[in-house]
Amino acid sequence: MATYSASETAPHRRARPDHGPEESGALIRVVAVLLGLAVGVLAIVGVVLLKTADDAKDEAANAAARVDSAAPAGHGQAHAAAATTSSPFTSYARVVPDNAEALAAAHKPYEAALPAAPAGPVANVKMTIKDMDVEIAPGVKYRTWAFDEATGTAPGPVIHVREGQTVEMTLVNGGSINHSIDFHAARIAPNVAFRDVAPGESFTFKFKAGDPGVYMYHCGTKPVLTHIANGMYGAIVVEPREKPLPKADREYVLVSSEWYLNSSGVDKPASFDQGKARAMLPDWVTWNGYADQYVQHPLAAKPGETVRFWVVAAGPSLRTDFHVVGTIFDRAWVNQDLTQYQRGVQTVSVPAGGGGVFDVKIDKPGLYPFVSHSFASVDLGQVGLLKVGNVKGSMSH
Ligand code: CU
Ligand code: CU
Repeated sequence: MATYSASETAPHRRARPDHGPEESGALIRVVAVLLGLAVGVLAIVGVVLLKTADDAKDEAANAAARVDSAAPAGHGQAHAAAATTSSPFTSYARVVPDNAEALAAAHKPYEAALPAAPAGPVANVKMTIKDMDVEIAPGVKYRTWAFDEATGTAPGPVIHVREGQTVEMTLVNGGSINHSIDFHAARIAPNVAFRDVAPGESFTFKFKAGDPGVYMYHCGTKPVLTHIANGMYGAIVVEPREKPLPKADREYVLVSSEWYLNSSGVDKPASFDQGKARAMLPDWVTWNGYADQYVQHPLAAKPGETVRFWVVAAGPSLRTDFHVVGTIFDRAWVNQDLTQYQRGVQTVSVPAGGGGVFDVKIDKPGLYPFVSHSFASVDLGQVGLLKVGNVKGSMSH
């Protein structure tokens, strides 16, 4: 059996007798020269990199200067917002005129109360699309393609039907480009019913509202991101008939959505910013299209009443983590599955393009904020108040 001791393996280390001490010295010198060259090259690369970084910094500074010079005078908040973000986009979050508070007080809030469902077997709905300037925050205007000239709002009107009713939808395109309407409440061939309608044309289709719940409707014309972000969305409530929900004393519809602005919208209406929309960096997030509108104009209830919220998250991209501060959902129909509810739930996610139904019964008078508990959204305007009883004042949350 072969074993190897240290002395037996030692000769292997001397296996290259041709490398004498002199040659080794020459090798070391060559390596040293090569290393020296490498250091030189690295130094040059370093200098080039530093120069490139410097150029990039200069370019960023120039770009900032361009943005500054392009911005209207007297809107220091826009500059402040730009300076405190590391994003490549200029944020117009919370940029409002000086008289914003008075404008918010004078603003007529979007009607959140659920309208009555029409009688009879057919619900006729007609909407006329129009390019409209809509206020989305106090003194902030946005150039929408919104659904209904008659209501003049984004979201479009709330549609309320009963399970089993037929919805006969007439869409008139009074806008300047193709549009369409996609109902999540419908089981229908989308290539037929949700087809594009050219400017100046109208189109009628029908569907049976067979699945109870609260659903989003929206324009489905490409690019859908742009059409939804431009205010083309709304909610349809299909009330269950076969298995009615427990009685509610008040019913409110809340549609969440976010806005991506290419300017502050203060001096002239803002339009869509595609970069921000793709990055999902909104300037404003709203309930029913207008920031904080139910803080100044709270939704009302009496102590002990059951209040039902029909919630849709229109996006285009953000979900809503629905929560009512100061209480717990007595019933939460998660994902608007009206066959069953959860009890004692604090917060429920409503996905973009989805819905949920929530009951609260509040006994103590007070102001109860309703929010998306994803708090960046609150910061950008997605908060309202449920005013229980005859209490005074407001609160921020
Ligand atoms: Cu559209
Ligand atoms: Cu959809």
